[in-house]
Amino acid sequence: MSSPSAVVVLITGANSGIGYAASKVIASASAKYHVIMASRSIEKGNAACSAIQAAGIKGTTSSIQLDVTDESSIAAAVKAIESDHGRLDVLVNNAGIASRAPTLKEQLERTFSTNVVGAAIVAEAFTPLLLKSAEPYLLHISSTLGSLSLSGEFDYGIDARAYRMSKAALNMLMVRVSMTLGKHGVKVFAVCPGLVESNLRGEGAQERSAGGKAGDPEVSGQTILRIMEGGRDADVGRLVNKDGVVAW
Ligand SMILES: NC(=O)c1ccc[n+]([C@@H]2O[C@H](COP(=O)([O-])OP(=O)(O)OC[C@H]3O[C@@H](n4cnc5c(N)ncnc54)[C@H](OP(=O)(O)O)[C@@H]3O)[C@@H](O)[C@H]2O)c1
Repeated sequence: MSSPSAVVVLITGANSGIGYAASKVIASASAKYHVIMASRSIEKGNAACSAIQAAGIKGTTSSIQLDVTDESSIAAAVKAIESDHGRLDVLVNNAGIASRAPTLKEQLERTFSTNVVGAAIVAEAFTPLLLKSAEPYLLHISSTLGSLSLSGEFDYGIDARAYRMSKAALNMLMVRVSMTLGKHGVKVFAVCPGLVESNLRGEGAQERSAGGKAGDPEVSGQTILRIMEGGRDADVGRLVNKDGVVAW
């Protein structure tokens, strides 16, 4: 059981990219933070957790298995966190994919299964634990690529149809969850982390860096930290990035 003064943070997809960087930034920021790094592969999750601990952090980290497309895995994680901590203060719904399956149908099915259905059922499953927190935050890691208005105006040279559709749907999920949980004190956000280095586009150097255009995922981690520390409370219920509010 964590001490009542600890802030218990759960990040899905924490073994890589933004989830890993956010875990490191948060655990480095203060001794009060305990970051539970959730990964679908417990081996990758344990390795990522150990790497952060070896880097020297003020707070603490632990690792848990959680596949957002597997209800039994989600239920087991809820049970373990309830038993270990009794509550959850911050949920960062970060796990996401950009499927490169050969057909649009497969891309849509795979991408929605993780980015929309997975995010929705993870948020639903952890809601009872969030409601036990004195200061709960629920962050959905979305993207400006899911903005309906900006997709028409700025093409960004990327079709990414299934991915864009999934993030537009995630934004709607966030609005509805915010309407419901906001009444109970949960601050709900959608967050565009910016174009940053990760495995989202592929694991080669070119894909990871988006041809050199991608920034440092620790900047995304700082944005997430600022939101959960209350620095963006004026924008609750909106799609935000590091600079402000993004148009829907
Ligand atoms: N990087 C960017 O430029 C950018 C921009 C806007 C939004 N985003 C969003 O940021 C989030 C994080 O992505 P990233 O860029 O950091 O990419 P990443 O390096 O590929 O990280 C994605 C993470 O999600 C995990 N994941 C995938 N499917 C999962 C599942 N079914 N259950 C649990 N975990 C699963 C991955 O695990 P494995 O390692 O096992 O695959 C990995 O840990 C995503 O929601 C993405 O859409 C990223």
